Amino acid sequence: MTKKTGVLALIGSPRKQGNTDIMADEFLEGARTAGANTSKVYLDDYHVRPIAEVADNSRQRDDPRRDDDFPLLLERFLSADIVVWSTPVYWQGPSAQMKCFLDRMSSYFNHPDYVKRFKDKGHIVVCAFGRPESEHGDWITRPMKITVEVLHGTYLGDVCASVYQKGKVRQMPEILEACRKLGTDAVIAIREQRGSQ
Ligand SMILES: Cc1cc2nc3c(=O)[nH]c(=O)nc-3n(C[C@H](O)[C@H](O)[C@H](O)COP(=O)(O)O)c2cc1C
Repeated sequence: MTKKTGVLALIGSPRKQGNTDIMADEFLEGARTAGANTSKVYLDDYHVRPIAEVADNSRQRDDPRRDDDFPLLLERFLSADIVVWSTPVYWQGPSAQMKCFLDRMSSYFNHPDYVKRFKDKGHIVVCAFGRPESEHGDWITRPMKITVEVLHGTYLGDVCASVYQKGKVRQMPEILEACRKLGTDAVIAIREQRGSQ
């Protein structure tokens, strides 16, 4: 039997049922419509420290802080076919919870024992920001597009919403619909790319 596409949403906001959590849920619903297995991690529920000093050569790095929850989360990440990076804009960047996760990947992404498992994933960005100017989403999408290139993955798209109060995105049906549609489309795209179910 062919393995179902696995989709993992990493939630960077500490607000459960906040805007990016709701948007990720809609994305996952769309992904399930296309037959995917979905799961979600609230990074704020885990203990992930900022990265420690690591070697300059990214192929020779250790993770001196691997006694925290990062290795467990990394395994969830590496097992997924599609990763949803879901974060609010905090001070012109991702939340600290998300940034710690990104930084900690630096000890692994180019290590000979791990490098293959980082490759060929689909990546999605979901973000919310309080300011009215739409370019505020670029603070997340631009660097994430480069991150996806570095990881040798495929950037499958993003949905960004200008919304401030907790849960207010529920009143934005066009955003919810865009998330659901991207969920379905992303699963179909990664399946086609891999030539599998
Ligand atoms: C610490 C903090 C920093 C923020 N910084 C920004 C910012 O730089 N630009 C912006 O547009 N909104 C900013 N916001 C607003 C959030 O991005 C916005 O409320 C978003 O909808 C929160 O998403 P969530 O409900 O998923 O947590 C900030 C909010 C907080 C709490």
